[in-house]
Amino acid sequence: MKKNKIGGVIVVLLLCSACDSGSEHVVTTYPDQQSLGFQQFSHQCSTCHRPPMPDAHVAGAWPAVIARMQQHKEQRGLLVMSAAEQQQVLAYLQTHAKSVSKKE
Ligand code: HEC
Repeated sequence: MKKNKIGGVIVVLLLCSACDSGSEHVVTTYPDQQSLGFQQFSHQCSTCHRPPMPDAHVAGAWPAVIARMQQHKEQRGLLVMSAAEQQQVLAYLQTHAKSVSKKE
């Protein structure tokens, strides 16, 4: 009896570690980290919170988010993004954005 219980615990532990590494929701690395777009993005978007994953939004939703973040920067007296910088960040996010056909 005792042996069986221990075996059960080990099986549960194995199952848990398997589901962790296989989960689609646990994304730990950003795409295309060598690109200039990523560098601009991580530079501009890490001051106040962890930079979001690009697939947090569909491409069409990112311009509004960036405009809002620009306001947050203004309100806190931080250096705001130039038009070119915003464009670069937006391009990076939109390239790797969530595809429209995918449901949440
Ligand atoms: C000056 C501080 C600041 C900076 C810099 C900043 N953010 Fe934010 N961000 C916030 C705050 C405050 C919130 C929560 C309130 C909100 O959603 O507006 C937030 C929330 C978010 C959210 C979650 C809400 C949502 O709409 O999904 C995303 C995504 C996001 N930021 C993206 C970005 C991106 C992309 C950048 C770089 C361009 C950026 N942030 C830079 C302050 C900042």
